[in-house]
This record gives sequence, structure tokens and C-alpha cells, in this order.
Amino acid sequence: MCGIIGYIGKDNSVKHLIEGLRALEYRGYDSAGVAFFDKENALMRVKAEGRLANVEAKLANVPEAAGSHCGIGHTRWATHGAPSDTNSHPHGTAALQIVHNGIIENHVELKAELVALGYTFESDTDTEIAAKLLDYYYKQESNAPDAISRLTGRLRGSYALGILFEVEPNKIYAVRKDSPLIIGIGKGENFIASDITAILRSTRDYYQLEEGELATVTADSIEISCNGKQIVKERKTALWDVEAAERGGYAHFMLKEIHEEPEAMIKTLRPRIKDMLPDFSDEKLDTSALAKVERLHIVACGTAMHAGLIARGLFESLARIPVEVEIASEFRYNDPIIDESDLVIIISQSGETADSLAALRLAKEKGAHTLAIVNVTGSSIAREADSVLYTLAGPEIAVASTKAYTVQTSLLSLLAVECAMLRGRINESAARELVTELYERAPKAVAEMIDRADEVKAIAEEIKTCEDLFFIGRGADYYLSSEGSLKLKEISYIHSEAYAAGELKHGTISLVVPGIPVIALCTVPSLIEKMGSNIREVTARGANAIAVSFKDVPEANKTVIIPTIDPRLAFLPAVTVLQLLAYYTSVARGCDVDKPRNLAKSVTVE
Ligand code: F6R
Repeated sequence: MCGIIGYIGKDNSVKHLIEGLRALEYRGYDSAGVAFFDKENALMRVKAEGRLANVEAKLANVPEAAGSHCGIGHTRWATHGAPSDTNSHPHGTAALQIVHNGIIENHVELKAELVALGYTFESDTDTEIAAKLLDYYYKQESNAPDAISRLTGRLRGSYALGILFEVEPNKIYAVRKDSPLIIGIGKGENFIASDITAILRSTRDYYQLEEGELATVTADSIEISCNGKQIVKERKTALWDVEAAERGGYAHFMLKEIHEEPEAMIKTLRPRIKDMLPDFSDEKLDTSALAKVERLHIVACGTAMHAGLIARGLFESLARIPVEVEIASEFRYNDPIIDESDLVIIISQSGETADSLAALRLAKEKGAHTLAIVNVTGSSIAREADSVLYTLAGPEIAVASTKAYTVQTSLLSLLAVECAMLRGRINESAARELVTELYERAPKAVAEMIDRADEVKAIAEEIKTCEDLFFIGRGADYYLSSEGSLKLKEISYIHSEAYAAGELKHGTISLVVPGIPVIALCTVPSLIEKMGSNIREVTARGANAIAVSFKDVPEANKTVIIPTIDPRLAFLPAVTVLQLLAYYTSVARGCDVDKPRNLAKSVTVE
């Protein structure tokens, strides 16, 4: 949510800031801005509501930008105050400029203090309050580190801050709490960034800034200190390269990421399979926790939570462990009953989702063992959980999550088999059969659906003008419906609901009118007959029922036939169909597929 970039070095800084912001735009895109020192070391600022192109257009009329060597930039997802030129970052005073990710919770109290001190405000943001408080401390301390330390001592909430001081044109300062920030290491140039993708064009090496640390970055040096003492940090290298974070000829990142699913599944599963059986021995995973655990909680948000629902079915049926799947933003407030005998699995692509992170911290507080399933290496959730299993999907840039769900559910399926074996619920040969299906058959089934994308595209053409739509299913298909529905509504803006097929007639069927599309998931063999009856209930009222199944569903108006696979893993090719349906419908409606309105990748506010 929001993106930060900073550059200092021999090159034109504004060029790097724009490049970085372009890579970060997926994190928030309702306004953007940059602050930089010009050739004469004057501190300048350019910002604009809307997409990054608006800032670029303004910069075209700012000749000073050409001579800049040091600057910070920001792409915003509005929290305090509507998207507008004034509310865009950077914010500051004559003495300094800052960019900020996160939320300052005690902004009301701080603003009142500053108003009493004579400060005035032009924006509605919490960031401007932080900037002016820093200005106040800077006037008192006359040196940046002390002023920043006094500022962070006062801020409640979460922040990653990039700061420029007017009198120090050769330095960028950075601090953070509960919002990620890294320091990119270049040659004769250095960076700050909220996300590695922003700097991959220039470097893959970085330091991870931790809470309480202050980074002082010049073109030739990076100093990181904690409580005034310089510290030596471990240098890290990103696994991702720049190609992985670029579109590579696809019309949209979302389409590219769907195409990457088969390979991402194999990459994620390969290191955890030996002799076609699960093998997590190379991971720092406490398998004894899996063997003994009395109850499993899976906590996540959005698509990651839907992956948890699929996992629930597998853990319960294979390993016979009771599983609760909980929405992270609700988890803390439901006073969850958890203790040392429970295992809490947090699923997150970004590893930075604020509600999921808060849920993880609560679970640890309550003494449960915590396991993170995360895609971004070194992210907060990955670092704080007792154990972590990384999904190896590569960067996911499109706001709508696709390949992350596929690898999360693949990895959780393997873990469910491991858990079932540890608990003596499945014998080796049955486990081997299922793992073979997962590792060899499922990626091929997903690839086959990608090859047959035109069939799905034709359905997208059929539904593109509808206003409302239903996804229905039973059992695992109901969980899959939830994901299909979320994907479609978030990027095509068609109102859609996921319903347990048998529940529809208990009220909601009154919304079924002639012509309404009903996507009926029918991949659970034991439930196909019952689904047939539910489909008849909607077609009798004029609905256009489109089934997704292994074989033709005669009750439906049409069926998308998915490849034969162990039905317990049918969600894998089936979800690809639903992702493609959302994608092509969004394209057909002329929507901004990768950056749907009001959304942002990586939701770092609660
Ligand atoms: C929907 C989507 C979101 C995320 C959710 C959790 O397409 O992407 O629902 O799944 O915001 O994000 P992570 O997985 O980063 O915790």
C-alpha cells in the first residue's frame, strides 16, 4: 500500500525515481510525487493526483529535474484525505520533505499540539503532521538524527519514512516501523525502497531496515545506526531479477502471472518432494508440531484466505485435524481460543498485510506455534513467524492475486499430505499417488486450461454486459466459488456473489432473473448430482448456467470441461478457468486489469 523510492548517486535522480515509482505503482496509484535537489542544491517538489503519468507531465515543464542527483518519490493509496494534488506526498516545510507509508494513529493529538505551536496545514494527511513535527524537532535539535529520533518517539502506528533535509543535499534518511523499507546497494549510487521491485533495474543487493534503525544514505555510503550506535547489517541479495518483475510481452501482468502458474507450482513443490513423498526436512519446520497439533487455525485476508479454505478441506479430510479458517481483520477482535497445542498458519503473498501480521503477533502472544506461508522473502510475516515456508511464485505485480493462490494451495496440499502421514492417517502408497498428481498432473492440467483460454474468453464475451452474477458450488467448490467471485468483481466491477449451491433457495434465489449468469462449479464427484438439481433451480428461472466440471453437465447451458485429475486437486485447473474468466471479462469491459479502482497491492493498513 503506497510505495517509496529514493535515489542518490551519479545519475539523474528523477529518472530513477520515476522508474522506481512505475515499478511500484501497483502498490497504490491514486496520486504520486517526487522531491529532489536540483543542480544548485535547491530542494524542489512535484506532485499530482492520478497516475504517475500526471507527475511525469508536470516534470516535463521543470527543467531543474534534469540536473538532480538526489531525491525521494511516492505513489499513494489514499488513507487520510482524498486523492488530490495537495494530499499527495512528499509533504514538508522549507527545511525538509518526507514520503511516508503507513498510518500515524495519534495524528489528531499531534496536530493539535502543532496548531498550538503556530503550524498550519494544507493537506488532510497524517503525513503532513509527521513532517511538521519533524520540522519542529529539527529546529530544536539542529541535527537530523536527533530530530528523527524525537519524531519516531512520538509516532504511534506504522510508518516507513524517506526524508530529505534542505541543508543536506547529499543525504537521504530512512526509518521504519511495521511498514517495510530496504536500502538498495549500488555502485556510486544507493537507494531506499519500500519494495525490491522498485530497484531491481539497478541492483539486487540490499539491507533490510529494522524497527528502531536509522539509515543515512549517501552516494558512496550507507550507515545504519540504532540508538546512535552504528551497526553492521547483513547484506542480502534478491532472488528475483528484473525480467521476473516486468511484463515480458504480455498485455497485462495478470495474464503473465496466470501463464506462470504451472512453473511456479513446480518450483514451489520440487524442493519439498523426495521420492514422490512430502519432505520438509530442508526447511526449518517443526514437523513435530504438525504431528501433535490439536487444532489448526488458518488466518489470512482475501485471496490468501480463500486458499486457506481450500486447505481446510484437505487438512480435515486427509489428516482429520479440525481447522478454523479466519479472516485476519476479524481474528483479533473475536477473542480467539488458542493455546500452545494449536498451530496457526498465516498465509500471505506480500508478507506485509497489516491484519495478517497483527493476527500472527496475537497467535504468538497466546503461545501457539506459528507457520507463515509467504511469497516475499524477508517480509515481516516471514521474519516474525516461528517457521516459514516460502512459495516460489516470483513477484506478483497485478493487484488481483492469481499465481500466489495457485502456489499457496499447492504447497498447503503437500503439507496436508505430510501432516496426514505424520498422524498415520494415510499410507505411503496413497500419499505417493496424491503427491504424483499434485506435482506431475496438476501443473499440466493448469497449463492445458491456459492453452484453452479462448473457450473462457468466449464466455467472458457472453457475460461482459451483465450487472450481477452468481458463483455456486458445494464443498470445495463453494470455497472455489468465493475466489472466482472475488476475482471477477475486483477487476471487472460486475457485482457477483458466491453462494453455497444448496443455500441459494433459502432467500437469495429471489435475485435470479432471466439471463443472469450463474457459474456452477461441479468438481466434487460425490456432489455433482446435487449440483445438477441446484443448477436446474436456477435455469428454471431463466439463468444462464455455465458449469465447470470434468464432464458435460447436462443441466447447465454449457460446461467448461477441465482435465481429469484427482478430484481433491480439481480446484487447481478450475481456479485457472475462473482467473481467466475474470481477466477476459475485465479486458472486454475496458477496465484497468492490473490496477483496478480503489485497490492496492499489499494492504499495510488495518
Ligand atoms: C485479491 C487479492 C487480495 C489479497 C489480500 C491478501 O485478488 O489480491 O485479496 O489476497 O489483500 O494479501 P496478501 O496475500 O499479500 O496478504
